[in-house]
Amino acid sequence: MAVTLAFDVYGTLIDTHGVIAALEKYVGDKAFAFSATWRDKQLEYSFRRGLMQNYENFAHCTRSALDYTSAFYKAELGQNDKEALLDAYKVLPAFDDVKEGLARAQDSGFRMFAFSNGSADAVELLLKNAGIRDYFVGVVSVDEMKSFKPNPAVYSHFLRRAGAVGSEAWLISSNPFDVIGAVSFGMRAAWVKRSADAVFDPWGIEPTVTVHSLLNLAEQVDRERKRI
Ligand code: LAC
Repeated sequence: MAVTLAFDVYGTLIDTHGVIAALEKYVGDKAFAFSATWRDKQLEYSFRRGLMQNYENFAHCTRSALDYTSAFYKAELGQNDKEALLDAYKVLPAFDDVKEGLARAQDSGFRMFAFSNGSADAVELLLKNAGIRDYFVGVVSVDEMKSFKPNPAVYSHFLRRAGAVGSEAWLISSNPFDVIGAVSFGMRAAWVKRSADAVFDPWGIEPTVTVHSLLNLAEQVDRERKRI
């Protein structure tokens, strides 16, 4: 049976800091810090909604996080400005290594899915806009479970939807919390560490492999499969 790869979307395939150019218009040289706080709060709100069992979709978390971040930086964004930024978030770019990395993984015979906190519609649009939708057999969203990563139920849902088993299914993610969630649940996981400065959470759980770019993903997963 072919090995299944579940690609995380935001932060792994798609660069959430792609909004920085749009943000510069509103907050100038605070754009990078603003973008980082926005992303951190978006994830924090998803974690909290998951824990509180008070589900609203990921776009809702993104919108609330923008309201918070705008207030935090005293950015005085009007409603139209916020809508413009949220529109930019719907068409974020892919990282540079993504197209070629996915093509190599496809040539190696992996079954590839996108697996995201984002709703299926939002993810379809992002992938199409970035010109990478056709590499994937399908899109699996946590929205179908009304919860968020790293709830083990959403990784279980992924396996069911993909018709895969944990030992032959790999999560591919730049987000350490996602990698830890998948391994803790019983999947394999590759951590995509594009920056030398990225730090993995000290959790007592390690990624199955660490790759520095999606370009070597297929090769490293193949090598590790032969070893284990
Ligand atoms: C996702 C979040 C983790 O795409 O960014 O699932």
